Amino acid sequence: MAGERILVLNGPNLNLLGRREPDVYGHATLDDIRERLDGVALELSCRCEVRQSNDEATLIDWLHEAWDGADGVILNPAAFTHYSYAIRDAIAAISTPVVELHISNIHARETFRSHSVITAVALGMICGFGAAGYEVAMRGLVDALRAGRV
Ligand code: DQA
Repeated sequence: MAGERILVLNGPNLNLLGRREPDVYGHATLDDIRERLDGVALELSCRCEVRQSNDEATLIDWLHEAWDGADGVILNPAAFTHYSYAIRDAIAAISTPVVELHISNIHARETFRSHSVITAVALGMICGFGAAGYEVAMRGLVDALRAGRV
């Protein structure tokens, strides 16, 4: 199969990537990540759309939209990772597979970051590879879709 629609959703403060705590999150902006993913999508013959919102409700609406509108989702829930049962429930509600992604290694930082309420309902979780993690997530997700594992 080719032409899978991959939606890449980013939560609060990720619009500041490139300027925000570069020692933790690196220098790549969201536009840099979008450009890199467009290249990978071309290579894999799939389609990809990158979105960002600081608003929990918008992220939930986009997850609902992904139920019929996407074949897979890559989600960096940002701080919502650690406490949003509403986002967790939205992921559990839809049948579209969701990969959880973090730029930093959330297990090597403050204690509150080491707990994710999202991982249990995700297809998988990638963290600690910087902006390159988005590419890893896309390759893993497309591979799982094509192998019929999701
Ligand atoms: C993050 C990690 C979260 O703990 C944090 O709140 C973020 C970004 C990451 O990509 O490493 O905003 O999801």
